[in-house]
Amino acid sequence: MPTLKASSSGLKKVQQAREENGRNKDDERWLLEASKIVEPDKEWLPAKKFYANGCSQSTWNRFLLGHSVNTNSFKAFCQVLNLNWEEIVDRPYGDGDNGKIVDWDSCPEVTVFYDRTSELAKLTELIQQENCRLVAILGMGGIGKTTLVIQLGEQLQTEFEVIIWRSIQYAPTALELLANLIPLVTNFEADSAFTKTLGQGIGQFMAGLRSRRCLIILDGLEALFGSNQLAGTYRPDYEEYGKLFREIGSSTHQSCLVLTSHEQPREIATLAGNNRPVRCVRISGLQPNAARQLLTEQGLVEEPEWEQLIQRYRGNPLALKIVSDTILELFNGKVSEFIQQNTIFVGQVSEVLDRQFERLSDVEKKVLYRIATGEAPMSISQISEKISPTVSISQIMEVLESLARRSLIEKTTKDLTVLFMLQPVVMKYIVNRFKHVFE
Ligand SMILES: Nc1ncnc2c1ncn2[C@@H]1O[C@H](COP(=O)(O)OP(=O)(O)OP(=O)(O)O)[C@@H](O)[C@H]1O
Ligand SMILES: [Mg+2]
Repeated sequence: MPTLKASSSGLKKVQQAREENGRNKDDERWLLEASKIVEPDKEWLPAKKFYANGCSQSTWNRFLLGHSVNTNSFKAFCQVLNLNWEEIVDRPYGDGDNGKIVDWDSCPEVTVFYDRTSELAKLTELIQQENCRLVAILGMGGIGKTTLVIQLGEQLQTEFEVIIWRSIQYAPTALELLANLIPLVTNFEADSAFTKTLGQGIGQFMAGLRSRRCLIILDGLEALFGSNQLAGTYRPDYEEYGKLFREIGSSTHQSCLVLTSHEQPREIATLAGNNRPVRCVRISGLQPNAARQLLTEQGLVEEPEWEQLIQRYRGNPLALKIVSDTILELFNGKVSEFIQQNTIFVGQVSEVLDRQFERLSDVEKKVLYRIATGEAPMSISQISEKISPTVSISQIMEVLESLARRSLIEKTTKDLTVLFMLQPVVMKYIVNRFKHVFE
């Protein structure tokens, strides 16, 4: 049974209200009135020494001393004193600093951070000016989503009453996550009944998001998505997240949930749109200046060839870090010598891509392989010609959409025709990995 107790300021109000009322603390009428509130259908008569559950003299004494009593008794005792229980209660998760809660310790430490000025401005605008309720930050592995969202959260700390960071890397179920978040957003222990139904859990959570302005960041949502399926399809047992996100995106509240993911969750694709409170922001690599700062910090020797290196890896900070280690090791830090080898070096970047490719469906792999082995960017009909006739054009369109949701293909337009292509490093990786499968 959940319990509540008075805060120190609440306790003073309780004493004052009781004294102003003029009755002695042992006056039986306190208990009878509280009993009527707790069990209104019964008749409560004086001098019988019989009271509703939780309205005994000893519970009343505990309440007056500021000890915990069960929730119903607490609310009833406040009511008989003509007090609003919410102004009396001790909020165990929100004392000090006006009840502000910052649950931020589990996020990785960011020691260097270059640029991202426009991304931060865009995200801040969506959250502060446009009051978006759900913002998904999407981009391929290593592009800098986690780093960016940490920076964003730190910039916005003063704007919110509750700020929470959670990694989804180990794939908690929606109920496990809610059990963890509810006490923070509502200020109270989760009602144990909620663990039985998702509906109740979502209900309590939403009440918290309505009553206080919370910023909740969930990092690495891709852990929830299944393999061998189109992008954004939940693994079995994780579909409940869809309900949670739909509720957060479509009902009114004053909070914001920010997600990062390789893949765009399906219901977010449906809910998102300009002028809507749900948005997706796609993150690409670092701008050339920031990428140059990163290469300098990595210890490379500055050369004109840096531009080519940055372009090859599309400014992906993780890929640039990995390849710079190799350049330092094998070419003494000289990018020009590395570039002369005229090879797209995949090396350990493949570890980053492996995680993303694990989840692709077979048709997605096939389509990627055909684009990777084509000589130039390809249109839908060119892709279709190269794929076996068993895959229809509409299937190919579905697959291209899914690959775009995974940030794995790039689009360009030529003579009004949309063409699809791949980043050089992704192209090389696909050829290496699937050559034996598709040739
Ligand atoms: N703006 C930046 N300035 C400096 N370094 C950065 C920046 N953004 C990212 N990095 C570095 O790049 C690497 C990858 O960044 P991060 O972990 O944020 O990527 P991610 O998109 O979250 O990757 P994943 O999808 O694998 O979780 C990290 O080592 C990080 O320190
Ligand atoms: Mg990340």
